[in-house]
Amino acid sequence: MQGIPRGSAQLYDSLAIKYLEPSYNYVTQDIFKENMDRRVILEIGCGTGVLLLEIAKNANSAIIIGLDISPAMIKISKRNIVEKSEFSKIDLLLADAHKMPFRPKSVDFIVSTGTLHHIRKPEVLFKEITAVLSSHGEAWIYEFSHDISIRELRQSSKKVRQILDFN
Ligand SMILES: C[S@@+](CC[C@H](N)C(=O)[O-])C[C@H]1O[C@@H](n2cnc3c(N)ncnc32)[C@H](O)[C@@H]1O
Repeated sequence: MQGIPRGSAQLYDSLAIKYLEPSYNYVTQDIFKENMDRRVILEIGCGTGVLLLEIAKNANSAIIIGLDISPAMIKISKRNIVEKSEFSKIDLLLADAHKMPFRPKSVDFIVSTGTLHHIRKPEVLFKEITAVLSSHGEAWIYEFSHDISIRELRQSSKKVRQILDFN
C-alpha cells in the first residue's frame, strides 16, 4: 500500500509515538554522528512526523522537509509538529516520492525509514533521489532487514496490544 488511509494513519501514529521511539532515536544518533554540511534535509515517507521532530531538535539551522503521499499522514504530522512548536523549521509536502517536486541538486541530505517497501518502482525513486541530491549529498535509507525470532515477535505483539489497550 502506498498512501496510508485515515484509520490506519491514526493507529500508526500511536505506534510511532509510543513503540517506534527507539528506532527514531537510533536513526537520529546515526545521522547526526557525522558533522556534515546539511542545509536542506528531506525525509521521504515522513509518516506522522515523529522523526522530523527529532531531526529539527538536532539540525538547528537547516531547512527540514517531510514528504509523504498520504494526506492522512501529512495531517497528523502537521498536528504533531504544531503541538511541539517546531512548525517554523519544518515544511510538509504531500507528494509522491516517484516524482518529487524539487529542483535538481537542491537537497543536501535525504533520510527515509520504513518506506522503501511501500515504493512501487524503487528504481524510479533512486533516480529521483540522484537527481535532487546536491553533488556531495547523501541519502540514508533504513528498512527492517532481519528475520525476528518467535520470542521477539511475541514480545513486540504484546507491546502493540498494550498500546492498543491503553488507547
Ligand atoms: C510504514 S510508514 C513509515 C513512516 C515513517 N517514516 C516512520 O518510520 O515511522 C511508510 C510511509 O511511506 C509513505 N509512502 C508510501 N508510498 C509513498 C510514496 N510513493 N511517496 C511518498 N510517501 C510514500 C506512506 O504514506 C507512509 O507514511
